[in-house]
Amino acid sequence: MEDIKKEGRYTRIHKQLEALLPKTEDPLARMATICAVLHHKMDHFFWTGFYMLKSGKLVVGPYQGPVACQELENEKGVCWAALNAAAPVVVPDVHAFPGHIACDSRSKSEITLPVFNQKGEIVAIFDVDSDHPDSFSEVDKLSLTGMMEMIYKEF
Ligand code: SME
Repeated sequence: MEDIKKEGRYTRIHKQLEALLPKTEDPLARMATICAVLHHKMDHFFWTGFYMLKSGKLVVGPYQGPVACQELENEKGVCWAALNAAAPVVVPDVHAFPGHIACDSRSKSEITLPVFNQKGEIVAIFDVDSDHPDSFSEVDKLSLTGMMEMIYKEF
């Protein structure tokens, strides 16, 4: 999808989330809502979900799409890269990313972003896979970062 079309779609999704998310303060419920909205509105989202940081492990949380790995091997792959960098990671070609964890062979490109709580601690990683190469740009990075900030926001 072209960046200009993506921007329009992300703007509309952001507005929809501003209406939906204040109905609960529960971060897990908000994560589930973000997943469902994004997965069904963004054409290039093949797998959309959260890995929760629990006792030093990344364990799958709310998601939409094909069945995924339940726990990720420590210190490996694109989710751990975002956790260690405390910043988003964009991978245009997953096969060229050393240590990429393939939960589904159809995934071709990927973006991962950390989710911070109100204390600034990382509590989860948001992960989107596309079944097309090079699907994610700065537009995805910026728009999704804004949505991750809504999870612990006081509306
Ligand atoms: N590819 C991820 C694993 C999770 S799945 O894509 C759903 C990674 O390398 O961390």
